[in-house]
Amino acid sequence: MISVAIDGPAGAGKSTVAKEVARKKGFIYVDTGAMYRAMALYMLREGVDLDKPDAIVEACVRPKIDIRYEGGEQCVYLNGENVTGLIRTGEVSRAASKSSAVRQVRERLVAMQQEIARENSVVMDGRDIGTKVLPDAPVKIYLTASAEVRAKRRYEENLAKGMEADLKQIEEEIRLRDEQDMTRKESPLTKAEGAVEIDTDQMTAKEVSEEIIRLIDAQ
Ligand code: DC
Repeated sequence: MISVAIDGPAGAGKSTVAKEVARKKGFIYVDTGAMYRAMALYMLREGVDLDKPDAIVEACVRPKIDIRYEGGEQCVYLNGENVTGLIRTGEVSRAASKSSAVRQVRERLVAMQQEIARENSVVMDGRDIGTKVLPDAPVKIYLTASAEVRAKRRYEENLAKGMEADLKQIEEEIRLRDEQDMTRKESPLTKAEGAVEIDTDQMTAKEVSEEIIRLIDAQ
């Protein structure tokens, strides 16, 4: 089994690039953010107060979260319901950023992620893949881009999906999530030891995935 770990802040292009690399290499793409989002959706539905870590600790053991692959796409299930199409809202993003800061939430989801990587060759993206989930991955990537470029990409993605989008608001949300994800105590987003940093500001997704495939093939 080969593991490729891709970490980086929101909107750096991780999922686009990870999917492409996985497709080209015949590996499974694992979007770990979707698991944190499904957990956050559960908390929102249950009315858990996300400013109270104790309430999150108590609630996080209850939901059953599964990843399944349907037509080559990752789907995330919450208590048997396919919630893949419900987890990309601003509300879920904010809730995921808060609930993912809690150690017990992370322990549950990290164990699931490690199990998937034991059984499959994976391209896994997230915030702590190279540092915590797969520290022995032979290829580790840290993808970055400026907050302006990341906001613009998210904005265009939303427009393309027919969603409403406000560039200023998206940029503010990205900065707030960076701050939360990089300064939390549990597994903050940092560049893993041995990770190759790729700044994607001036690169197309195709160029980035080709670069990563070169790194994999050089193993
Ligand atoms: O990658 P994303 O935007 O879908 O992630 C949603 C949130 O989940 C993000 O704010 C940080 C958190 N997350 C995390 O803490 N660790 C991961 N491996 C993946 C996501």
